[in-house]
Amino acid sequence: MMIINAIKKRRSIKQFKSDPVSEDDVMSWLEAASYAPNHRLNEPWELLFVGVETRAKLNHKTNFGGAPVVLTVLSKPANSSFERDENVMAAACFVQNFLLAAHEAGAGVYWASLGALPHNRSILGVQDGYDVIGILGVGYPEDVPMAKQRTAIASKITYLA
Ligand SMILES: Cc1cc2nc3c(=O)[nH]c(=O)nc-3n(C[C@H](O)[C@H](O)[C@H](O)COP(=O)(O)O)c2cc1C
Repeated sequence: MMIINAIKKRRSIKQFKSDPVSEDDVMSWLEAASYAPNHRLNEPWELLFVGVETRAKLNHKTNFGGAPVVLTVLSKPANSSFERDENVMAAACFVQNFLLAAHEAGAGVYWASLGALPHNRSILGVQDGYDVIGILGVGYPEDVPMAKQRTAIASKITYLA
């Protein structure tokens, strides 16, 4: 798949088939994701695979669209707010890579931000200083939503002298 095609065709998936996703596939998408840019090669991402008990405690409104796999992406602590921001940026790049790798394989991902809420951090056992980048539902799409139009990029550009 051409990269621009993959970027434009990827959608947030809100409803999944019950078909399982193989652990090998998930691991290969995560491994690919780890080639994300990251300053000082500190690889700030860490992952939690969310099992059924924890998933039930999170009590998500659609149970992550019925995704067969749920995982959480964390960004590790840093010594300064500058480095912490860098870690979060790199971890977000990791997630985007994962989304694209899954998409190329015909799978899809639901990126939910509720893991960052204090009570959900507690359910997930997230240590102080870590940022929760997202809880990701992963599976094969039941439904692929239409693309949402983006603003013309020219309107986002300022040319400096
Ligand atoms: C940091 C982040 C947090 C998000 N959190 C949620 C969320 O909590 N619930 C949700 O439905 N979608 C969430 N999304 C997905 C966006 O809603 C989605 O990307 C947007 O609607 C554009 O749709 P598309 O991904 O299909 O292009 C999140 C996306 C990002 C980048």
